[in-house]
Amino acid sequence: ELGFAGAVRASLNEVYGAYAITVMHEDFPGELIVARLGSPLAIGLGDKEFFIASDASPFVEFTKEAVYLEEGHMATISLENGVNIFTIKDNEKVEPAIQELRLNLEQIEKGGYEHFMLKEINEQPRSIRDTMRGRLLVDEGVIKMAGIWDHLERINKAERIVIIACGTSWHAGLIGEYLIEEFARIPVEVEYASEFRYRNPIIGPKDVVIAISQSGETADTMAAIKLAKEKGAFVYGICNVVDSSIARVTDAGSYTHAGPEIGVASTKAFTAQLTILSLIALKLGKHNGNLGNAEFMSLIAELDAIPTKVEEVLQSSHEVAKNIAKQYVDATNFLYLGRGYNFPSALEGALKLKEISYIHAEGYPAAEMKHGPIALIDENMPIVIIAPKQGHYDKIVSNVQEIKARKGQVIAVVNKGDVQVSSMADHVIEMPETSECFSPIVAAIPLQLLSYYIAVYR
Ligand code: BG6
Repeated sequence: ELGFAGAVRASLNEVYGAYAITVMHEDFPGELIVARLGSPLAIGLGDKEFFIASDASPFVEFTKEAVYLEEGHMATISLENGVNIFTIKDNEKVEPAIQELRLNLEQIEKGGYEHFMLKEINEQPRSIRDTMRGRLLVDEGVIKMAGIWDHLERINKAERIVIIACGTSWHAGLIGEYLIEEFARIPVEVEYASEFRYRNPIIGPKDVVIAISQSGETADTMAAIKLAKEKGAFVYGICNVVDSSIARVTDAGSYTHAGPEIGVASTKAFTAQLTILSLIALKLGKHNGNLGNAEFMSLIAELDAIPTKVEEVLQSSHEVAKNIAKQYVDATNFLYLGRGYNFPSALEGALKLKEISYIHAEGYPAAEMKHGPIALIDENMPIVIIAPKQGHYDKIVSNVQEIKARKGQVIAVVNKGDVQVSSMADHVIEMPETSECFSPIVAAIPLQLLSYYIAVYR
């Protein structure tokens, strides 16, 4: 006779795949059994009540105490006996580690906004500032990051940095590659975690892996980290959720401090990830001598000004994005183009649009347009082109000419006061100027707003 818990445990030992489950049985009405493998599970400890969710935000309104179930663990929960944790494999008892929740209700409420996504887009001046706070000390000319400082030699001596992530975090990784290679001159590769983990990658003790994840729970990223660690690589995490599985399994890391991101389509976590990657690249470059002091000082001053610029672009682009969105609600395809640092911005803009508006969208490096996508351009094709002054402006001008020659509809994201691209574009969204390397942070805002409003109108 196995009993309720024994039967669940025996069954789970036969189960293949990832899960986070709650089991109820009509013969045991006072008891719940929870178990997890590969997916997160949190138990809220209330006053004569318990809550079970994939993270603490749904129950923070009712209790400030939680137990995060560890990988491969299960728990029996009842008012009589409380929470008792065991390993699924061997039935070994584990002491529950009760955590005090630091979340507050305001962070996870919509606060008057129609959607969490809109709230989170608007929060970015604050979330970027919070990500820099205590790290970017402009007056002292210092970037303080304990995680990097403690392992500076290891990271700077890496033969190669491999960035692994999924979705939007992967796009942040691509921009991270540009940043780290430009300022620290360390070779960087960026991989989808889902590809990395299944392809027997070449990775070893001389490599440093940077894993980027908002949630800190993405199963592919987690599995890729485990593989990299097994092969002896040093793994650095960039996560938003404190104490998440990825944050706990990595050798060192930096939290993004963007606050809870409830919207499924990542917005503020993305710009916070770019902020952290900028800080890391500048810190490494300064330390290994590839970035001179004068340039370092001017870049950190520019980075410090980013939250204000994000505030400006938020103020100026809501209405503009709304108007453009209204005109393209019925579009069936969109193309996003950008060059250099803003090629990944184009990928991210396209991902945002498809994820929430269900319009097919593709991001492309602008120069690649002629090798195929150009065939798709006609008067029905809206093309979002990210064209800040710095970088490859002249090249972008010729791309816009090519698009207009085929009657494509150009929505240009340009710097304030721009003339050349703006005079050819059908629609213009302006943003403040900044160094090319930080322009993806500013450019992300109008792209997020455009996809948000298109989705709302649809
Ligand atoms: C997705 C989300 O499915 O997961 C994306 O919709 C996100 O917005 C991706 O970028 C990866 O998630 P995470 O938490 O690992 O950054």
